[in-house]
Amino acid sequence: MAIPALLLAIACAKEPTVITETEPEFNETYRPQFHFTPPTNWMNDPNGMVYYDGEYHLFYQHHPNSNVWGPMHWGHAVSTDLVHWQHMPIALEPDSLGTIFSGSSVMDINNTSGLGTAEAPAMVALYTYHDAEGEKAGRVDYQTQGMAYSTDKGRSWTKYDGNPVLENPGIRDFRDPKVSWVETATDEGKWIMTLAVKDKISFYSSPNLIDWTFESDFNPDWAAYGGVWECPDLFPLTTADGEEKWVLFVSINPGGPNGGSATQYFIGDFDGSSFQVESSDVKWLDYGTDNYAGVTWSNVPESDGRRLFIGWMSNWQYATVVPTEVWRSATTLPRSLRLVKQENDFIVASAPITELEQIITSSKSFSEKEIKLTGELVELELQPTEKEFTVEFSNAAGDRLVIIKRGDELTIDRSKSGKIDFSEGFGSVHQAPILSNDVNSVNIFLDRSSIEVFINDGELVMTEIIFPTEPYTQLNLQGFGSSNTIHYLASIW
Ligand code: FRU
Repeated sequence: MAIPALLLAIACAKEPTVITETEPEFNETYRPQFHFTPPTNWMNDPNGMVYYDGEYHLFYQHHPNSNVWGPMHWGHAVSTDLVHWQHMPIALEPDSLGTIFSGSSVMDINNTSGLGTAEAPAMVALYTYHDAEGEKAGRVDYQTQGMAYSTDKGRSWTKYDGNPVLENPGIRDFRDPKVSWVETATDEGKWIMTLAVKDKISFYSSPNLIDWTFESDFNPDWAAYGGVWECPDLFPLTTADGEEKWVLFVSINPGGPNGGSATQYFIGDFDGSSFQVESSDVKWLDYGTDNYAGVTWSNVPESDGRRLFIGWMSNWQYATVVPTEVWRSATTLPRSLRLVKQENDFIVASAPITELEQIITSSKSFSEKEIKLTGELVELELQPTEKEFTVEFSNAAGDRLVIIKRGDELTIDRSKSGKIDFSEGFGSVHQAPILSNDVNSVNIFLDRSSIEVFINDGELVMTEIIFPTEPYTQLNLQGFGSSNTIHYLASIW
């Protein structure tokens, strides 16, 4: 049931700027050309990503009536290749229990919920209801977990009539359920919900996606607690040598390594009930400022075998004021995650998916230190020959975006990258430690308003949004030899 417009207006934290009669061209200034964006208006976290029957589904936090955050809906898009996206009608709208915050989707192939059939298994979405009125009234239990299902491949959705499926135990921040089917040596399998609860993760289990039982909490003393914990994910990952570990992602806002929103992760073991972490240092998935609330796709076929990830390419510090009007925010490039052993520890590396090769329109090997860019959508494959290196993009307007490696540190300087004055602190220099002694490869993706830097195939990643006053036309390199390649990319729209 849709709630009346008046209630929606009350539910809204900020007055919406209603955008009317604006047709998306998908070619506006700053519109990413090979990253996903909503046709119009506001987007934040990716939600409910699930693969089924040849389609990757991407849902997302969406305010369809404004280009700033407001009453949340789940927007929806599908793709057969994770590169080209078809926009779909809104999947989930607010109802009398609240607006629709972040969550996940699974395919209930064995019909544990009884909501589908063997021929048409239910795609089940578990999400957070945010009752803004309850919040205004001073209650603390205004976030609960709800469920909706679709038996027609995500085209139409029915809210479960017993919602909420998980009540609030009296905790203000109680949200972002990430659900997966977990089998262990001693257990044939059950659904596990990984939930962000203020400054801890709570695990719940269920045989049927409907009845949930508390299992355990996870909040080690030494983790990053600079902000509220949000949007977790839990999954096993295997090294190239076949060693398996469990990975727990926890997004945190603020408190990221370069300010604002970022995703920390933990590596250890999950026994079906609780998570035991192995090493006690804070690990960050991405040291750039613009990869937040990212989680992985469920139900990716075993024959594919990848753990596929996408994040929200922005930061709560400035997401609502970035200089775009028709739409606000993009996702990161989809990435494939790997578990990598480094000395006695493990890290999660994330590399762009190989499907992106299909949008390469031309490629050129080069050894020059300075080259003119003949297109604005660029992928660089660079091989450093020196211990220190610099990559600089610039244009005739005097904008400069600089990536530097000095010692064991990588920096991205966006202080002169273009428009920066829409938010104090946007134009700063961001740093990341390089854990590996050798940098063998540097891959850089430049879209109209973002840069993604992958060191050693994603062992270190920095994702940043940028707003050059005109496209960069010049590339200057230092510290690289003769085997570099530039690819020009086609728009996906
Ligand atoms: C993360 C987040 C989630 C919440 C959603 C609301 O960016 O704050 O915790 O569910 O955004 O839009």
